[in-house]
Amino acid sequence: MEYTTLGRTGLKVSVAGLGCGGPSRLGMRSDAQGENNALAIIRQAIDLGINFLDTAQNYGTEAVVGKAIAGIPRERLVISTKKTLPSIDHPHPEEEVRKGLEQSLKALGTDYIDVYHLHGVEPKDYDFAKTRLMPAMVRLREQGKIRFIGVTEGFVQDPSHQMLRESLAQDLWDVVMIGFNLLNPSARRTVFPLTRENRVGVLDMFAVRRALSQPARLKEICSELIQKGVISPGAVNAQDPLDFVLRESGAATLPEAGYRFCRHEQGVDVVLTGTGNMDHLKSNVEAILKPALPAAILKKLEDLFGTLDDLTGN
Ligand SMILES: NC(=O)c1ccc[n+]([C@@H]2O[C@H](COP(=O)([O-])OP(=O)(O)OC[C@H]3O[C@@H](n4cnc5c(N)ncnc54)[C@H](OP(=O)(O)O)[C@@H]3O)[C@@H](O)[C@H]2O)c1
Repeated sequence: MEYTTLGRTGLKVSVAGLGCGGPSRLGMRSDAQGENNALAIIRQAIDLGINFLDTAQNYGTEAVVGKAIAGIPRERLVISTKKTLPSIDHPHPEEEVRKGLEQSLKALGTDYIDVYHLHGVEPKDYDFAKTRLMPAMVRLREQGKIRFIGVTEGFVQDPSHQMLRESLAQDLWDVVMIGFNLLNPSARRTVFPLTRENRVGVLDMFAVRRALSQPARLKEICSELIQKGVISPGAVNAQDPLDFVLRESGAATLPEAGYRFCRHEQGVDVVLTGTGNMDHLKSNVEAILKPALPAAILKKLEDLFGTLDDLTGN
């Protein structure tokens, strides 16, 4: 494993992080009984050197993470979890944040969270998050229950990062979680210059998703882009739009190419990989540790998708 520093937090984190949410939720979304598999995935990730584990109140995986890490010296791990936003008309939103944190601590079997995020903050929620929820987070930090404050964007609703662009200008967060992948690299232009300026830690989600793991979905996305005139018909093989990536990069699969693309982006600290499949976990970690894609491939991807800011990869 390789390790890096998560921005101004100073936390030493593995460059690959285990995502315990996403479409897989460690395999538990499709198999709620799949706790043993989930435990094995988390333990294998730790054996591979991953020390960054990301979960959330609403994933239903905090307890299985807690079980898997019981007995491991706490300081060896960096635990990231998230608070679902209370509704905007909640009478006591600060209290709701405090209660959520207590529940997360209990489920995870720990007495502090390294990075506690507000989860999926959309542009419409931002003022509420800033004025009503942030003060509660600061209090929890002062009490030593959380070490650093983060925010994750609602990438599906906000693929052009409006919330992060606005909030980073005010330098509120120690860490952000952002959607960035080869089909929507817009954060390179609009967000990473801001995170770099204030040394905000960056966690990358959506590196692969359906677009890079299901060939039919990639074909569909690219057909739509051709129809809309965003990419010219001759620019890609409509039957297999990213065939050139595999042919010319040495990557064995598109998920490998997708993780390598994100890992070597200046501005990304940790690439999260979310899976319920042990073989995927191992190959994804290997991919994250491989060299960058060749410059010629990166150029071609930039020419095709570099200006897009409305795809998610779903
Ligand atoms: N707003 C937020 O706060 C937010 C939103 C989304 C995600 N997240 C966090 O970010 C983490 C990572 O995001 P993500 O779930 O989008 O991760 P991702 O790694 O881009 O995509 C995961 C999906 O790709 C599949 N996959 C992974 N490796 C594969 C491989 N080698 N071959 C084929 N399919 C593969 C997985 O299915 P299999 O299980 O079959 O491998 C899963 O469906 C999440 O787990 C969560 O912790 C946060």
